[in-house]
Amino acid sequence: MSEKSVDSLSEAEAAAELARLAEEIAGHDRRYHAEDAPTISDADYDALRRRNLAIEQRFPHLVREDSPSKAVGAAVSEKFGKVTHVVPMLSLDNAFADEDVTEFVGRIRRFLRLAAHEPVAITAEPKIDGLSLSIRYENGRLVTAATRGDGQVGENVTANARTIADIPNVLHGDFPEVLEVRGEVYMSHADFAELNRRNDEAGKQIFANPRNAAAGSLRQLDTSITASRPLRFFAYAWGEVSRMPADTQMGMVAAFGRFGFKTNPLMKSFDSVEGLLSQYRLIEADRATLGYDIDGVVYKVDRLDLQQRLGFVSRSPRWAIAHKFPAEKATTILTGIDIQVGRTGALTPVARLQPVTVGGVVVTNATLHNEDYIRGIGNSGQPIRDGRDIRVGDTVIVQRAGDVIPQILDVVLEKRPMGAQPYQFPTLCPACGSHAVREEGEAVRRCTGGLICPAQAVERLRHFVSRNAFDIEGLGEKQIEFFFQSRDPALHVGSPADIFTLKPRQEASLTKLENIEGFGATSARKLFAAIDDRRKVEFSRFLFALGIRHIGETNAKRLARHYISFEAFQQAGVAAQMPEGKGDKGNAAWQELTAINGIGGTVAEAVVEFFAEEHNRQVVDALLAEVTPLDEERIGDVSSPVSGKTVVFTGALEKMSRDEAKAMAEKLGAKVSGSVSKKTDLVVAGPGAGSKLKTATELGIEVITEDQWFERVGQAG
Ligand code: IVH
Repeated sequence: MSEKSVDSLSEAEAAAELARLAEEIAGHDRRYHAEDAPTISDADYDALRRRNLAIEQRFPHLVREDSPSKAVGAAVSEKFGKVTHVVPMLSLDNAFADEDVTEFVGRIRRFLRLAAHEPVAITAEPKIDGLSLSIRYENGRLVTAATRGDGQVGENVTANARTIADIPNVLHGDFPEVLEVRGEVYMSHADFAELNRRNDEAGKQIFANPRNAAAGSLRQLDTSITASRPLRFFAYAWGEVSRMPADTQMGMVAAFGRFGFKTNPLMKSFDSVEGLLSQYRLIEADRATLGYDIDGVVYKVDRLDLQQRLGFVSRSPRWAIAHKFPAEKATTILTGIDIQVGRTGALTPVARLQPVTVGGVVVTNATLHNEDYIRGIGNSGQPIRDGRDIRVGDTVIVQRAGDVIPQILDVVLEKRPMGAQPYQFPTLCPACGSHAVREEGEAVRRCTGGLICPAQAVERLRHFVSRNAFDIEGLGEKQIEFFFQSRDPALHVGSPADIFTLKPRQEASLTKLENIEGFGATSARKLFAAIDDRRKVEFSRFLFALGIRHIGETNAKRLARHYISFEAFQQAGVAAQMPEGKGDKGNAAWQELTAINGIGGTVAEAVVEFFAEEHNRQVVDALLAEVTPLDEERIGDVSSPVSGKTVVFTGALEKMSRDEAKAMAEKLGAKVSGSVSKKTDLVVAGPGAGSKLKTATELGIEVITEDQWFERVGQAG
């Protein structure tokens, strides 16, 4: 794929590429998560996501509803049972300029062949920046609630939805027998600030914005957590309805109000483009005082019979559009440039700004991407900002859109102070003083200090204890920072193994953790117990935790499945190394490594480089003295009624989560797949199962219920 640099893309090219990337990444996600059959390496996949993000950062107003950057965390969805939406949950097309709105209305009029004097009523309402939810009522009682998911299948969050005060458990008035109400779950600014304040005090997770807080709160496995979060809901759309209570959009929303829902007071109907645009400006002007985040205005054809005639184009209705607010910009002064050193040693410049409010949020830092960006040079060497560089003291234009990191767009040269000097990007790591080098063709300069670099060490430790790595309860970023900073030999944690020697070191010393502020006897005891709990850990977690470049969770799993034991993997990593320290094509170990599905030369080289480094071997050996990575269970080794079989779970599972079902099946030696094909041996179907069940029946594959599954494998549900 020949790629144009992000800096040289035109707006139209950027929009087209974002669309392509969204589709491509979604395809990879599906193949990886649902079909268990990825077709690219982690590194290539990450590169796609990075490019998507880079384009979005340059054109924040082009961020798509189905953007992969918004779908972060969507992978966790396996935790919940799934619900197939009988009526798919669609997305909206975007309009950015007034002309796009004129176009939209023109298209509708042409499609409906309306004469010039015939008005068409169109509603305008705020586009709430939360997450959409579909709630199904049967005979007036809430039966299921599901997130949007991919639009076809969402997550079953029924128990959580029941805890939201704005969502009635029982409908009022003259409701239809079956009614699926759709709308947005969101959090108000005030509740968001209060939640973050409380969480900060308790040392818990801080959310980046109200939307993340709302999504994080709704998608909790523990319903009591959702119940403790101040979530709200606006009803604005519907799925399946057995008897329509109205024949217009306005009428439907009014009916939702009568049934007991909250609806947005700013919704109004208009007969002209001017009317729509005036409502857009009114809502935009109100934006800062609404008390919740909105990111545009949605226009919808009011009459439902006309909506029906207009229909859909691919995944969005022809009868609706989202008119997005422009990215917000402000001018301020660049007071300094700091360099942050990441886990992999990347030096990232961060702009320190005189505080400025951009779209209601005070911004004090912004990203400067890399040293070329500061110099006015784009990714493929072409000038950006007409070659203007950025200097400390400059007046700069800052842009913020949604939850994208604020960025510096441009400098105001006329305001450059006399004597401002071009910025000299450091060639020594600011954290450890080692050389920082930029490899041929790379935009990033990296510290060569490895683990002797404190910045890398602390970032690696943070990674080591993170949720998908060792995940030690009570040992979060704050605590790691504390132990790392501590100069007391009984408390200092400088490398992973030190975590596991904490307790014995404590016992042999006078310093006691329980006497240190913020710990106390109970939490110290719990922490040591949690650490001991992790002395045996899955091979793939262990490997992921090491933080080797290019070894994310997926690649860690691939390597674990192939080598079965960490020992075998380590031996291979060492053997694949040739005298000159890099992998060689002639070496059998190297060939085996690069032949693993999804593992390419880049990953293999990262493995070889890791084990070639004396210091890394010491870190691993010290860790192995404390921790035992468990051998990956051989698929098919276990004998059970389902071993060696390919199983598909579909529909809503009621007794186990999707994650549990998968883990259980795999433990029993089955292979779990996300799609039904001729290779499938068994389909376990729960309520709401749709196309997969149909395919299975057509192919004559055995289909059983969740209860029958438990009977078959001889375990109680
Ligand atoms: S209507 C068929 N109305 O925007 C169209 N959507 O891009 C159904 N959203 O996933 C959606 N406020 O999460 C509609 N007033 C509103 C909205 C709204 C926010 C979100 C919703 C949806 C996305 C569509």
